Amino acid sequence: MTKKINIAIDGYSACGKSSTAKQVAAKLGYIYIDSGAMYRAVTLFFQQHLIDIDNLHGIANALPKITIEFKPVGTLYHTFLNNEDVEQAIRQPRVAAVVSEVAAMSNVRKKLVEQQQKMAAQKGVVMEGRDIGSVVMPDAELKFFMTADIDIRSKRRQDELLKKTGTLYPIDELKANLLHRDKIDSTRDDSPLTKVEDAIEIDTSYLTLNEQIDLICKKANALITQ
Ligand code: CDP
Repeated sequence: MTKKINIAIDGYSACGKSSTAKQVAAKLGYIYIDSGAMYRAVTLFFQQHLIDIDNLHGIANALPKITIEFKPVGTLYHTFLNNEDVEQAIRQPRVAAVVSEVAAMSNVRKKLVEQQQKMAAQKGVVMEGRDIGSVVMPDAELKFFMTADIDIRSKRRQDELLKKTGTLYPIDELKANLLHRDKIDSTRDDSPLTKVEDAIEIDTSYLTLNEQIDLICKKANALITQ
């Protein structure tokens, strides 16, 4: 007998959560949800509409006007903001520069968490982020917490951005942004990044992508085919 489970993957920025989660979902035939893309899309909306992150009134007024969806483009799923494909735009460093400040806002989190919980309700979901095991899917059958050495993460992010945008960003700037976001993400009042008690920790510093995927798939298959 097989049953559907939910898998939560949390951890610091650029630890390999997205690439791992995406391929784990593909192997299991599950739905992959990149919750960070949703915070990035909200941030992009504020930037496109010149709403400053200190403008709390403007932000509260803007939130009901924001619709975020994941839709298939070829063989991949892209993030759509009010029907516009923003998959590339949300990865830009100018979005990364303030996304953690936006993600610390409770009204932003409330809106996105509600949507994430609806997407997870039918099970068969691999969702990655910061508060997935703690807040979004506290009853997920499997939870992971990913970490990696900061210099390795910075290098991986540089390679990833080069591939995605064609620009080679200075590694020191990328490292500073990762450290800045890690600090805000783990110290904010609302849903800070923490390793929940029932999460399995994976240090990806010296693992290959395939090793990370296999590790999670083995644990998942053991539960699914019980
Ligand atoms: O790809 P990377 O690991 O750099 O970050 P991301 O997963 O795209 O998330 C971008 C930002 O969104 C994070 O730094 C957090 O501030 C926020 N976030 C969050 O607060 N809660 C989540 N569940 C996911 C992301």
